[in-house]
Amino acid sequence: MNECAIGVFDSGLGGLTCVKELNRILPNENIVYFGDTARVPYGTRSRETIMEYAEQDINFIKKHNAKLIIAACGTVSSVLGADKKNAGNIPFTGVLLPTAQTACKITKNGRIGVIGTPATINSGAYVKAIKNIRPDVSVTGNACPLFVPLVEYGFTGKDDPIVKLAVEKYLAPIKACDVDVLILGCTHYPMIKDAISEYMGSSVSLISSSGEAAKYALALLTEKNMLSGRSETGKNVYYTSDSIELFEENAHAFLGDTIGGEVHKVGIDELISAAQDPA
Ligand code: DGL
Repeated sequence: MNECAIGVFDSGLGGLTCVKELNRILPNENIVYFGDTARVPYGTRSRETIMEYAEQDINFIKKHNAKLIIAACGTVSSVLGADKKNAGNIPFTGVLLPTAQTACKITKNGRIGVIGTPATINSGAYVKAIKNIRPDVSVTGNACPLFVPLVEYGFTGKDDPIVKLAVEKYLAPIKACDVDVLILGCTHYPMIKDAISEYMGSSVSLISSSGEAAKYALALLTEKNMLSGRSETGKNVYYTSDSIELFEENAHAFLGDTIGGEVHKVGIDELISAAQDPA
């Protein structure tokens, strides 16, 4: 079991920012990644549709014998809620709880900002998770619907005028609340963290939900005695529901390196049958 892969999924490529962190802090682990690139974005869809897709994604990953499943997607994590700790008999985590815990730990002035997709912010899940941990803290959230398409189209430079304009538009109400911690509640957002940081200023700590989920995975696998005993570097295998070529072309920007693993195509019909016939 310890030599099984960590399963990671996202609506698209954003979850690769979590894979990048996993590769850094757990270099000997195998990773199986699914990006639902044919159906991204999830964050502007209804709760029912997101739940349906999440179930398909989880069951697809389960079929690959994962020892831990990570929903490296703020949208799915928020819709499923912080209480989901297992997928059948497999440990499960979203990005929500680890990120909320860290934000509560590091805020000094008790004012936390959170940005995410419309589904993440409208779910109220971050506010609920944070208030459960620290009822005294105030939370200001804002949905940033243009961030995912900007990142997916490669607009990530901190001096890019389109990025700067979008950052200013979405973050002005949060900056006005004098937060000292800002949660990047979508796993695409680390790609534009330099622009966000420049706008918010150096006194605001940015928390990457991808990075927090990866740290949580390390702690969980250590606690459960489930770390791989492999001495060589682990392998990454990727699955995409759209073009393999497009995945390969875009993924390295998220991973900050070559993707270093095979990419396979999975059809939507396969995802649907994975949910109908769970592992
Ligand atoms: N990476 C997803 C998230 O963290 C992307 C959003 C989407 O599919 O809309 O929410």
